[in-house]
Amino acid sequence: MKQISLLLVGVGGYGSVIAKEVFTHMDEWNATVVGIVEPFYDATPTKPLADARGVPHFDTIEEFYAENTADLAIICSPIHFHEKQVIYALEHGSDCLCEKPTAATTAQSDRMAAAAARTGRRLHIGFQLCYVPAVLSLKQDILDGVLGKPLSMNAMVRWPRGRAYYARPWCGKIKKDGHYVLDSIAMNACAHYLNVMLFLLGKTAGEAAHAASVDAIVSRINDIETFDTAMLKLNVGDVTCRYFVTHACGSNANPVMRFEFENATVEMTETDDEDAIHAIFKDGTVKNYGPIQRDFYRKLPYCVGATRGEGEPLCTTETAKAHLSCVEAVTRKVPVLTDLEWVEKGDVRVIEGLDELFERAFAQGMMPYELDGRFGKPVHVDLTERTVWEGDE
Ligand SMILES: NC(=O)c1ccc[n+]([C@@H]2O[C@H](COP(=O)([O-])OP(=O)(O)OC[C@H]3O[C@@H](n4cnc5c(N)ncnc54)[C@H](O)[C@@H]3O)[C@@H](O)[C@H]2O)c1
Repeated sequence: MKQISLLLVGVGGYGSVIAKEVFTHMDEWNATVVGIVEPFYDATPTKPLADARGVPHFDTIEEFYAENTADLAIICSPIHFHEKQVIYALEHGSDCLCEKPTAATTAQSDRMAAAAARTGRRLHIGFQLCYVPAVLSLKQDILDGVLGKPLSMNAMVRWPRGRAYYARPWCGKIKKDGHYVLDSIAMNACAHYLNVMLFLLGKTAGEAAHAASVDAIVSRINDIETFDTAMLKLNVGDVTCRYFVTHACGSNANPVMRFEFENATVEMTETDDEDAIHAIFKDGTVKNYGPIQRDFYRKLPYCVGATRGEGEPLCTTETAKAHLSCVEAVTRKVPVLTDLEWVEKGDVRVIEGLDELFERAFAQGMMPYELDGRFGKPVHVDLTERTVWEGDE
């Protein structure tokens, strides 16, 4: 079995969690880390782990590839570096696992896909739910018609975020140093839950379904340029997807999802219980699909195996584009509500009553803005026409 050499790019934030997982399991995957690219290496929790193993460190990806190669580059840098670093790694002979979202824009994502095709390298996108066996077997049941026609998909997340989160230099920015970031709650922290609904509705195992339109309200109460609350109602063929997520809340509610089908209701939470995903059929029978959380890092050995020729990407730029194109369009076209009243709880700004409103909307299969006039009417965005945005090309 060929040993796979790994390059880790960005190891301070989420990349430090990935690095820890890699260092813990690389022997069983028959992989080894040959370099780390990180401009603020000394401040990262990864440094002691990497130094103990004698892994060389570089400030830039160019410095690494000047004298080295890697079979697989794992890119966990901020969004606005993805395009440049992924293309550079592909062109220097590496497969890539790029953290979600693929990039800030679909134009960037298309250029990354073109580079993968041109170089013949594999490019995986790190939406971890697409690699979780329980999610994949639910998708297979949907494709096999076991649950009947999909009718609606619902996802709610409430994750309060305070000063430290918003202090990160690219957080909530439209652009950074002249490059698009389009960072927001829907592009970043809660991207998984929109992506997984579209992934589950895809027509084949590796495809995601594109929404034809979205009715959206987005708002911000923090000092950012994009939005910290998103309420999106998507039209995906005959299926309505309701997605409402917020950082402007008083209490934490981990993602809850409910998918309605002709023959069953599927409920999904990110736990390690056997019933983390389960279907309740109309006749009362229940099917458990298995746990989720413990498989969050399954993407790593999967991509190592794919580099060895043992599989093809499960989540490609095309798969991830269903999420990206919707969120990019919302970010560019929907005016952000900025005049909502808020109070400070600890260091978190909170829209009073939002927690209860989200709970009620989720329970009733409604959008929060359908139950509370404070947010006004949603903006309708047609997603069928590809827009070339100013500054994209
Ligand atoms: N899959 C998940 O669940 C998950 C969770 C969190 C973040 N992410 C993704 O990971 C990426 C990074 O997010 P984060 O929250 O860790 O950000 P972060 O800002 O906390 O950390 C980014 C790291 O990259 C480093 N960096 C900055 N410029 C760099 C460059 N040019 N080259 C290499 N490294 C550079 C920074 O110093 C820092 O250590 C984003 O795409 C984000 O969406 C994914």
